[in-house]
Amino acid sequence: MPAVVISGTQWGDEGKGKIVDYLAEKADTVVRFQGGSNAGHTVTVNGEEYKLRLLPSGILYKGTTCVIANGVVVDPECMLEEIDAMKNRGVDVSNIRLSKRAHVVMPYHKLFDELNEQNRGDKKIGTTKRGIGPCYIDKADRIGIRVCDLIDDEEFAARLKDILAQKNFILERVYNHAPLDYEEILSVYKNYAERLRPYVCDTISFLNKQFDAGKKILFEGAQATMLDIDYGTYPYVTASHPVSGGIGVGTGIAPKKIDKVVGVVKAYCTRVGEGPFPTEQLNSIGEKLREAGHEYGTVTGRPRRTGWLDACVVKYAGQISGIDYMAVTRLDILDDFDEIKMCVGYKIDGKILDEIPASLKVLAQVEPVYETFAGWKSDITKVRKYDDLPENAKKYLERMAEITNIKLGIISVGPNRDQTIILEKIF
Ligand code: GDP
Ligand code: IMO
Ligand code: MG
Repeated sequence: MPAVVISGTQWGDEGKGKIVDYLAEKADTVVRFQGGSNAGHTVTVNGEEYKLRLLPSGILYKGTTCVIANGVVVDPECMLEEIDAMKNRGVDVSNIRLSKRAHVVMPYHKLFDELNEQNRGDKKIGTTKRGIGPCYIDKADRIGIRVCDLIDDEEFAARLKDILAQKNFILERVYNHAPLDYEEILSVYKNYAERLRPYVCDTISFLNKQFDAGKKILFEGAQATMLDIDYGTYPYVTASHPVSGGIGVGTGIAPKKIDKVVGVVKAYCTRVGEGPFPTEQLNSIGEKLREAGHEYGTVTGRPRRTGWLDACVVKYAGQISGIDYMAVTRLDILDDFDEIKMCVGYKIDGKILDEIPASLKVLAQVEPVYETFAGWKSDITKVRKYDDLPENAKKYLERMAEITNIKLGIISVGPNRDQTIILEKIF
């Protein structure tokens, strides 16, 4: 009864979509358990790109059930757009299941996300402005609207009336912003409700039955450990739990049912948005990484910040999520570097730390301790066996496994499905 987790170990965009799609061939079900349309997971099949925000990256396999579980915050407009886009490309969308308990992203969430960012000025978080934070705030504040409310006309009309009155009060009095129109939102969201209704189900019961029937379940993390609201570089984080612990609360599948955790590790580091990034390279190396890796955000198009691999961060992710295997992605992006560095420790006042500092003030002071590796200076995109990788690439990978204390499981050398080297059987 394998239940396998795919979780990002850095600051997102590690290539989780590619790894999930690759493993989904053997999975019965792929489940998103947190986050929302702030995610941008790109899957490439035969050179064709599919960009997914809410739909699980198993959607490209006919017959794989794709579950959006209760821990996700769902923007109906985005979800329906994605469903339409998939249908137009001939993808079967009949196997989507949307949790009744998932919270719904409303127009005021996106507006508050935008206004709050403006108000933060130079202290902005650099959010994706998809309304994710404000939607989770309302969930915790007990004024959220869930999918089960959305598809109940009477309940939705009543809840929206109450909540919108509160939101408009704040919009007008605090933000000096025009109020949002009740009738307009009601009519637009009624239409969304009708279109989403066929997908809605009790995903807790559905997933537990799948598990009991011995189906293979893949949990697709969005974002990553360093963006986790508890474990990341708070407050420069997202509002959910991308770590494997997020699965228990985000799906109703008990933590003890999880068999394996795969941590996705980009062979170097990127971050989009503000916040600390100890190995950031604000120099020609950073630019080379950005250009070689086309590091521009899937959701917002923003240039991603780039830097060397931070093995301290990956080790930390390994502890928190219980990572069994690493899926190292984008190793090919380093093909043309003469020298490659890896951060293997943090130093402050001459002392090596054995933890990731909680305080951003302290984290800003850490001095990364680097090990330098000779580059392999060759094209690895056609390599399909670990033994055929250049010796220097293997040295880099093996040191990564040693420092992080996590086994190598998968190596990815390009965006396509076949550009994947398997060291450990996951399913
Ligand atoms: P995610 O958010 O973790 O799913 O990652 P993104 O999809 O935002 O970003 C990863 C990008 O790298 C996507 O465009 C993938 O198609 C691409 N990708 C994944 N693995 C590899 C790889 O091994 N090599 C290369 N060159 N690209 C990859
Ligand atoms: P995937 O799943 C990279 C970042 C934003 C911002 C912070 C908070 O593609 O890896 P939010 O809109 O969530 O309130 O923004 O988190 N962020 C991501 N960065 N990849 C993502 O998702 C991200 N989702 C959110 O840039 O810094
Ligand atoms: Mg992404």
